[in-house]
Amino acid sequence: MKDLGQVDLHPNNFGPDFQWGVSTAAYQIEGAHDIDGKGLSIWDVFTSRRGKVKNNQHGQVACDFYNCFENDIRYVRDLNIPNFRFSVSWPRIMPTGRYPVNQPGIDYYNRVIDFCLECGIEPWLTLYHWDLPQALELKGGWTNREIIDWFSDYTELCVKSFGDRVKNWMVMNEPSVFTGAGYFLGIHAPGKTGLKNFLPAIHHVTLSTSAAGRILKNILPEAKVGTTFSCSHIEPNTSSSRDLAAAKRVDALLNRTFIEPVLGLGYPMEDLPVLRRLEKYIKAGDEALMPFDFDFIGLQNYTREIVKSSFFTPYVWASLVKAEKRNVPITEMKWEVYPPSIYHIIKKFNAYPQIRKIIITENGAAFTDELKDAEVRDIERTDYIRENLKYVLKAKDEGCKVDGYFVWTLTDNFEWAEGYHPRFGLIYVDFETQERVIKHSGLWYKSFLKQKTR
Ligand code: NOJ
Repeated sequence: MKDLGQVDLHPNNFGPDFQWGVSTAAYQIEGAHDIDGKGLSIWDVFTSRRGKVKNNQHGQVACDFYNCFENDIRYVRDLNIPNFRFSVSWPRIMPTGRYPVNQPGIDYYNRVIDFCLECGIEPWLTLYHWDLPQALELKGGWTNREIIDWFSDYTELCVKSFGDRVKNWMVMNEPSVFTGAGYFLGIHAPGKTGLKNFLPAIHHVTLSTSAAGRILKNILPEAKVGTTFSCSHIEPNTSSSRDLAAAKRVDALLNRTFIEPVLGLGYPMEDLPVLRRLEKYIKAGDEALMPFDFDFIGLQNYTREIVKSSFFTPYVWASLVKAEKRNVPITEMKWEVYPPSIYHIIKKFNAYPQIRKIIITENGAAFTDELKDAEVRDIERTDYIRENLKYVLKAKDEGCKVDGYFVWTLTDNFEWAEGYHPRFGLIYVDFETQERVIKHSGLWYKSFLKQKTR
């Protein structure tokens, strides 16, 4: 086993097939919220409710990617990044979430895809990055089992519209976050709370994920089809049996609930007993429909969590020990800077024999960036990415099936309930003028990727 000092961070050492990229999401960058026939999404509605997002900010303009995409995709090319991940906004192409189609929305994504290809960049398309059509939310959104059909129709439309040129697909983005924050805690759109919303959402997202996987593969047998999961390395606060058990429950909730049914292992009910209540929503025949053999699994990691047992948190009986209280380096999101997390996560998921290939579809950090003399010297972000990459390479050197790394994200953008304050971009955005400045981290990534010769 290599220690980190022996890891030689050069792109060639990741192998010729390793995919390098950068990730984005429609609502966080596009703006153009009511342009060319787009319908309302749950994020349009959620952000219009006072007090839901810091400073009542919203994505109505965001980075204006809808109008500036050529400019921004040129940046991707100029940074030597060969793969660009973006998502389709469902209500932009299906304003009510169902047929009829909004042709100008389809035309827009065709322009984005064509321009990527013109620039020599591979488009990687995410079907669902959290902006559900509001018309479907009014019918219960992810809590309504009919969503499996709605999502299947939407998937088929995307595949038939873009599948002649898009070779890499991801079905969902971080299901545990959009169901947990949006349907249990109520801190993300659509702002619903409680188990009565969370549990049906979990099951319908699971069934929709595999249904979409099957549609993609049936129509595009040659395509690379994946789906993404958020994951955090979990450690118990002490070695007490209570903390160990609490850590196991949190691990089941954050890292296993969504992936294991897809891998054919069912929900981790043994280790997280509250999931037994899912049985109410599971119908005869569902077990056979839950698994799907994805070509790759996208893992998205930012930090680790320290867990202790707690009597005050129902269902998981556990709480997180905040990084702020642990005297450790943190980001603007108050997440601990802990690069070994990505290594532990790769090792953990690598151990599932059902996973064919792992791609890190997001990793990055928000720091206070200062624009000074037309430069952003974001040393902390550069270090963060570099250190994380060393751990990815260490895992790869040890034989893990990890074959890609995408930075979150291209430009500073709308960070959901946190608004525009946390800046994650490789490129700084002045949201008043829409001016862009490549940060030092972006320049570092550019020169790093330039060294790739095979
Ligand atoms: C994960 C999400 O996919 C993305 O939308 C978000 O901005 C980043 N993490 C950072 O929080």
